Amino acid sequence: EKGGWSSFMAKEISEEPEAVAKTLLGRITDGTVHLSELDPIGDEVLANVDRIIVIACGTAAYAGMLGKYAIEKWSRIPVEVELSHEFRYRDPILNERTLVVSISQSGETMDTLMAVKYATAASAQVLSICNTQGATIPRESHAVIYTHAGPEVAVASTKAFVAQVTALYLLGLHLAKSRGTLTAEEIAENAAELQAIPAKIDEVLVVSQSIKQLAHWMTDTQSVLFLGRNVGYPVALEGALKLKELAYIHAEGFAAGELKHGPIALIEPGQIVFVVVPSPRDPNSLHPKVVSNIQEIRARGARVIAIAEKGDAAVLPFADEVIPIPLAGSLFEPLLAVVPLHIFGMELAAAKGLDVDQPRNLAKSVTVE
Ligand code: M6R
Repeated sequence: EKGGWSSFMAKEISEEPEAVAKTLLGRITDGTVHLSELDPIGDEVLANVDRIIVIACGTAAYAGMLGKYAIEKWSRIPVEVELSHEFRYRDPILNERTLVVSISQSGETMDTLMAVKYATAASAQVLSICNTQGATIPRESHAVIYTHAGPEVAVASTKAFVAQVTALYLLGLHLAKSRGTLTAEEIAENAAELQAIPAKIDEVLVVSQSIKQLAHWMTDTQSVLFLGRNVGYPVALEGALKLKELAYIHAEGFAAGELKHGPIALIEPGQIVFVVVPSPRDPNSLHPKVVSNIQEIRARGARVIAIAEKGDAAVLPFADEVIPIPLAGSLFEPLLAVVPLHIFGMELAAAKGLDVDQPRNLAKSVTVE
């Protein structure tokens, strides 16, 4: 039940901290990660895995993209992410050393189910990340890591996304531990970063309230662009998808580095651009590059809404609005930066008088190919 919230989506966004916390529960002990869920695949088979292919659709695929950054960095296993409906029609190279990781909130998405069946038939190991106990996809897989986001009713996926990213990060740490690619201290540090996320999302939920006003003066907007780099890129894609499906506004997410390869031609005075800004603290940060992207689009008249780390002074002179997010390690920033974008999609749809929970033409689980 909605329990006093204006929509299921509003309720589910408010549950994002809990979705992460519950997905972590019992999986981190004494600073280390153990996923007994992987036991059915077995240590020996897992040790021989030389490639991971993540398959998913929509928001779940964006979670998968974030998983790629973390799993590759921590475990050094190459990861590809592919939309389920593209995967099985291109004769992918699979064998018993390939770990296919499917991601699905519902566990019933037909495109992903068919891809899972294809992968098992081709003798790959299939691990599913799923939010629905006993759904079809986990039943067709060798192993399953359940996300514990609780039932998600609104068509737009929100709390399931942060839970999926959490599960993928746990998987990355588990693999890093078994391969010895991270030290025990590094695993403990990253595990602690994950455990700190729920309280930080709580903070983001408070500061994101300013988005409501933004949404109100944007009801006539025809197009919104989202830019991000590195782990900010899937966040940009997720922000754009939410606007399309909820507010029926043309929206596109870009990797910020791609701007000069074409999309910058779209920038004209008044164009609204959300920019996910990486932390300036990381020595390898792409922060200066993203700030210069902001300057470039600002010079062409764009209105910039930046999602940036609290205290990031470099962004302030160039942004029309800044949504501050708490400090976190680079890989963990998306779990915070995505929250204002979820709220924005919902608020803009509400401001346009649209049905937030049940957008036109869409179903919660897509059980047809
Ligand atoms: O149930 P699934 O996670 O398999 O669903 C995948 C997509 O259909 C889903 O994420 C969809 O893109 C959402 N409506 C996005 O908000």
